[in-house]
Amino acid sequence: MELNKLRDNWNTFGQKDPLWSILTDATKKGNRWELEEFFKTGQEEIGNLFQYLEAQNIQVKPTKALDFGCGVGRLTQALSHKFEEVHGVDIAESMIDLAKEYNQQGNACQYHVNVKADLSLFESSSFSFIYSSIVLQHMKPDYAKRYLLEFLRLLSPDGVLVFQIPSAQKRKSPFRHHLRRLLPSSIFNAFVKWKDGVDAIIEMYCIEKQEVIDFINSNNAKILDVREDQSTGEDWVSYRYIVQLKSSQS
Ligand SMILES: C[S@@+](CC[C@H](N)C(=O)[O-])C[C@H]1O[C@@H](n2cnc3c(N)ncnc32)[C@H](O)[C@@H]1O
Repeated sequence: MELNKLRDNWNTFGQKDPLWSILTDATKKGNRWELEEFFKTGQEEIGNLFQYLEAQNIQVKPTKALDFGCGVGRLTQALSHKFEEVHGVDIAESMIDLAKEYNQQGNACQYHVNVKADLSLFESSSFSFIYSSIVLQHMKPDYAKRYLLEFLRLLSPDGVLVFQIPSAQKRKSPFRHHLRRLLPSSIFNAFVKWKDGVDAIIEMYCIEKQEVIDFINSNNAKILDVREDQSTGEDWVSYRYIVQLKSSQS
């Protein structure tokens, strides 16, 4: 799926069922997430992450953070308790409109729509921390890699990048897998919309763990830590990567 179609789909989700499209708990479908409960999951995710970074002795300067694919700001607002300034970026205007509406952190959180395959809206080396969770999995690997390169460009010399991406799918529905191979994607997607009762499609993509590691290592950066993560549910093998630029001291 190309970026303009991706943007249209996420815009639709932002209008119809934004919180469920971000955290697809089956019991919350149909706008049944409570806002407070939803944002609490962001506090927990960021709290656990920073405990982990501390335990690994990975230092992060509390200056400026980027939350790529911020949705309605679930993680952006949580990050604002750790940084002077946090920028949330999303491809969907409807998501950013909600992020602004739900924002309780004033100017500490700034939100941007970006529909480009790059992050040229930001200056090089300007972020001490970059985070992206359950986002890169929804775009073709070519796009994910372009954004990864952008993250490395935006990272300050001692900055820390943390991102998640699945490596493989554990369990596939044999019927859907077969249909997907047989049908043109527009017809397959129409089938999925009808069957799942959704207005837009959330596609999933993987990049194998070793490919991610090689990609990072060949772009003047190093992996500080890789850990299996559960954010994509039990049907996927997913990893969270912690990265710094190679020239960094730590
Ligand atoms: C599953 S949601 C996750 C939102 C947020 N990271 C969170 O965990 O609460 C995925 C988000 O990524 C955004 N997204 C998808 N492709 C993107 C892209 N190319 N650039 C920026 N945002 C993108 C979608 O609009 C959506 O808001």
